[in-house]
Amino acid sequence: MSTNSGSPAGLSDTVLTVDNLTVDFPTPDGAVHAVRGVSYRLNPGEVLGIVGESGSGKSVTSMAVMGLLPKTAKVSGSVRFRDRELLGLSDNEMKTLRGNKIAMIFQDPMTSLNPVYKVGHQLAEAVLAHHDIPKAKARARAIELLEMVDIPQPDRRVDQYPHEFSGGMRQRVVIAIAMANNPDVIIADEPTTALDVTVQAQVLDSLRAAQRETGAAMVLITHDLGVVAGQADRVLVMYAGKPVEIGGVDDIYYNPRMPYTLGLLGSLPRLDQREAGRLTPIQGSPPSLVNLPLGCPFTPRCPLAQDVCETREPDLEPVDADEAGPDGHRSACHFKDRVARHRPADLFDETSADAELPGDFGSDSTGEEQAEPHGPTDVRSVNTDFGTESDRDEQL
Ligand SMILES: Nc1ncnc2c1ncn2[C@@H]1O[C@H](COP(=O)(O)OP(=O)(O)O)[C@@H](O)[C@H]1O
Ligand code: SF4
Ligand SMILES: [Mg+2]
Repeated sequence: MSTNSGSPAGLSDTVLTVDNLTVDFPTPDGAVHAVRGVSYRLNPGEVLGIVGESGSGKSVTSMAVMGLLPKTAKVSGSVRFRDRELLGLSDNEMKTLRGNKIAMIFQDPMTSLNPVYKVGHQLAEAVLAHHDIPKAKARARAIELLEMVDIPQPDRRVDQYPHEFSGGMRQRVVIAIAMANNPDVIIADEPTTALDVTVQAQVLDSLRAAQRETGAAMVLITHDLGVVAGQADRVLVMYAGKPVEIGGVDDIYYNPRMPYTLGLLGSLPRLDQREAGRLTPIQGSPPSLVNLPLGCPFTPRCPLAQDVCETREPDLEPVDADEAGPDGHRSACHFKDRVARHRPADLFDETSADAELPGDFGSDSTGEEQAEPHGPTDVRSVNTDFGTESDRDEQL
């Protein structure tokens, strides 16, 4: 069963609706089919995790939502903020929405921060860009925002430059900027990937706390299924530009119905697996997005693949009749019923927990971080169970 938090919202309550979004990039070698029919809906206050290996189309999907793709990109489908279609809006129209109704947090805080201005100035500017208020009031709001993301001594820190902050604190400032105008939607693209592993969990907690305080809905993008474990209400798994599974967080962790999701779970270091000394990562790498195979793009890596997988790409469909609602558990696999009976180690070969992971799960971070055991048996505690206050104080 799907396990959304809160009551199921009707369509009219949806803050963001992405419908059959496709993005192609023309290149001399042919079109890169970066996004191939992504659909999701985001209910108010909900956190949707988008997970997939590097190159699966997570960032391009989000850049399409924000209207930030290069002009050469060919975009089709629909992106609606409440009832308003965003695809096709002018740059000026999108500017009034960006940072106000929809805010984005990028992986590298220095993409968003200007090194030559004090953080207080940058926070105040974010507020003043959308609200005509006196400067003193904007400064007071800047201090309040720093406090919201757990920056100690915010009234002193407000007058410092980004270089005087640690990496974790800089990303907290970026989160504060994103929250400055109480947006309805926040899109956080790998918000902790660039950070030291000891501060990732605390920054995620600050992000979640700020999201709750403002009541914003959030899309949390990561290549690491462990990151969304303690954070998301629902999870969308992407592979080769397409959603291959979507469901409540418990559906995805405890009842995955697509072999790729099972493989991602098997790649997560966990204490119980460390005791067994084994991980079960997926071998191989994703297909080229220029010349995609005819059938299921996961076929060459899939232990359950049959002949039909090579000729027909499966649609994303409810895993059973009970899940046919708009927020139901869906997967794209011809053999979704068979997946239900397996654990990662049944399908994927074991490897040493200390070995470097194949593919590029860890391409945005170090293998060392990936191999670090994170938490107890319950995978939902992953990445929320390490790092201590003293680590944090050191980082600050
Ligand atoms: N401007 C571009 N031109 C051509 N290909 C691009 C461009 N931007 C992204 N891509 C390709 O689109 C695919 C999806 O990229 P991306 O969304 O960044 O992946 P992810 O965020 O999941 O790691 C990748 O194959 C990437 O190389
Ligand atoms: S459709 Fe076939 S290849 Fe694709 S995930 Fe399912 S079993 Fe594997
Ligand atoms: Mg990305």
